[in-house]
Amino acid sequence: MAKKIERRTSKIHGNGVFATRRIGKGNEIVEYKGRLITHDDADATYGGLDTGHTFLFTLNDKYVVDANVEGNIARWINHSCAPNCKAFTESHKSGKKKKDRVVIEALRNIRKGEELTYDYDITVDGPISAAEKKLWACRCGVPDCRGTLLKAKTKARTKSVPKGRQRKKT
Ligand SMILES: C[S@@+](CC[C@H](N)C(=O)[O-])C[C@H]1O[C@@H](n2cnc3c(N)ncnc32)[C@H](O)[C@@H]1O
Ligand SMILES: [Zn+2]
Repeated sequence: MAKKIERRTSKIHGNGVFATRRIGKGNEIVEYKGRLITHDDADATYGGLDTGHTFLFTLNDKYVVDANVEGNIARWINHSCAPNCKAFTESHKSGKKKKDRVVIEALRNIRKGEELTYDYDITVDGPISAAEKKLWACRCGVPDCRGTLLKAKTKARTKSVPKGRQRKKT
């Protein structure tokens, strides 16, 4: 089957991922791959929110997918506040948390040449400082852009990216 996505320079940030042909709504596009590390390892290796950049994706309450190592093209997908894709965790039927996976799926029909995006949903215990908002400024460019990749935590969530600061208060 012909490749349906490729990495290219993005107007949003650095590298992005683009559709090389039409992708229908509901299609599974790619798995977010990387080595599995525990939340404690993620904190120890990458710290909290101080970089403004992450290749981490929370898989479940035990593991984080670290796409810095063994990552695939999915690690280049940028965030948008009005995304055309969603990222979700698929739990393995065996219940083995190591076997869960993160999947990126089309939220709507995507045209050839469109950049793929999903909502990173990076939730942190509030309040979020002005400096943190700036460090994690969103450049998705949609009319309703929230201005930052960070969201103040309002309820328990299972999906987010950097876990360091979240866990301190949970
Ligand atoms: C998984 S990487 C995506 C690939 C990234 N463009 C790159 O070249 O490394 C996630 C990082 O990309 C940047 N990024 C992604 N979406 C963004 C957006 N909407 N606005 C600003 N920066 C963004 C942030 O630094 C974020 O932590
Ligand atoms: Zn935005």
